[in-house]
Amino acid sequence: MTRIAVFGTGYLGATHAACMAELGHEVIGVDVDASKLSKLEAGEVPFYEPGLEEVLSRNIESGRLRFSPSYSEAAEFADVHFIAVGTPQKKGEYAADLSHVNSVIESLAPLLTRPSVILGKSTVPVGTAAKLAERTRSLAPAGDNIGFGWNPEFLREGFAVQDTLHPDRLVLGAEKESRAAVESAAREVYAQLLEEDIPFLVTDLATSELVKTSANAFLATKISFINAMAEVCEVAGADVTVLADAIGMDVRIGRRFLNAGVGFGGGCLPKDIRAFMARAGELGADQALTFLREVDNINMRRRTHMVEIVRDMVGGSLVGTRIAVLGAAFKPNSDDVRDSPALNIAGQMQLQGASVTVFDPQAMDNSRRIFPTLEYSTSAVEACTHADAVVVLTEWDEFRALRPRDLDDVVRARRIIDGRNCMPREVWTESGWHYRGLGRPVEPVRVNR
Ligand code: UDX
Repeated sequence: MTRIAVFGTGYLGATHAACMAELGHEVIGVDVDASKLSKLEAGEVPFYEPGLEEVLSRNIESGRLRFSPSYSEAAEFADVHFIAVGTPQKKGEYAADLSHVNSVIESLAPLLTRPSVILGKSTVPVGTAAKLAERTRSLAPAGDNIGFGWNPEFLREGFAVQDTLHPDRLVLGAEKESRAAVESAAREVYAQLLEEDIPFLVTDLATSELVKTSANAFLATKISFINAMAEVCEVAGADVTVLADAIGMDVRIGRRFLNAGVGFGGGCLPKDIRAFMARAGELGADQALTFLREVDNINMRRRTHMVEIVRDMVGGSLVGTRIAVLGAAFKPNSDDVRDSPALNIAGQMQLQGASVTVFDPQAMDNSRRIFPTLEYSTSAVEACTHADAVVVLTEWDEFRALRPRDLDDVVRARRIIDGRNCMPREVWTESGWHYRGLGRPVEPVRVNR
């Protein structure tokens, strides 16, 4: 059993704290946001993440997990300190804003009077960990007895608990000086996972930071690749969904992350590829990542393209039309609307004169907060009432399960535009609906499989 402190209780930190307690450790979660702490203390997760509430409550009840705003309490209690605060995009710049990470070190390090280990989990530009390690040593009374490592997190929202307790791999970056102490602390924390033969890669700090950023850059590239193919399919009269299935059968390519649609959003991929480009530029390797600018451009183009398709479908102008938007979260099983393609598209359609009504199974409160001018419904069917077009922008199971008979009598016109290629096209077209997918021909292609 290790005594652990986790700084930051957002998506990453709250999940990490709860999961570390689930592994049998004693954990204290620390945050400067008192409202988050009081919710977590009551066993309530301040965001939607399937399965997390159970893990949280179970471990609070067992006494292994608690929350506090106090850095001194955490410094006194824990032997391993995880940094799990956010690294958002700086306003008006591509670079990452490291102020939260820096402030954890500035507050924590002066309180470290005995040997302990700091492990960073936040996504940071390469070179950050080495700087933070130096700063920690200069501030901490325990000085050289503080081990410093980076242990990037690869969790996906919606699968956060599963990804934390059963990750594909564990990566640990450590400096030469404190490598033994850092590795042994990490081995103790993750003992249960290592017993399950989860691969454990130990490397230097810079490589560990780059593992995370390059993994996200690759995933973003994969999505933009298939979306670029979707653009070509549309002008060539081909079907990107069949193309993805076919190329995905080559194991070197793989089918996952080849879903063409309105593109990627969320709190990670968009800002991480931009921070990566900014950092490569600072290091003099900007040419190496210019392709990410194109990845970003392809992705942002999806959103305007979607608006154009809807406009085209309703007869050339959105002015005075009623559009139902199904989905606001950046992906299903999440209430996260950060850089969500769905809300961005809804907003653009409204600016072009449409009256837009949005429904999402989980993201209504977050959406209302950042986009109060859109209209919101309490169900998918209500959102579609009197709609000139139904636009599916997040592939929730609830939307996939909709059938024409659910909407036939409420809509003004039977038009469905499938921004995630997730609806069964034949079912809709056979019922007399005008269906459009992204990167798919207007007339269905027959495939024998
Ligand atoms: C991502 C990474 O997957 C994760 O490893 C990292 O730690 C954080 O960033 P997350 O932001 O939770 O996780 O979402 P992810 O499941 O990767 O989806 C990102 C976006 O890409 C979503 O908007 C999703 O809709 C979109 N996407 C994904 C596609 O458009 N097509 C696909 O085939 C897959």
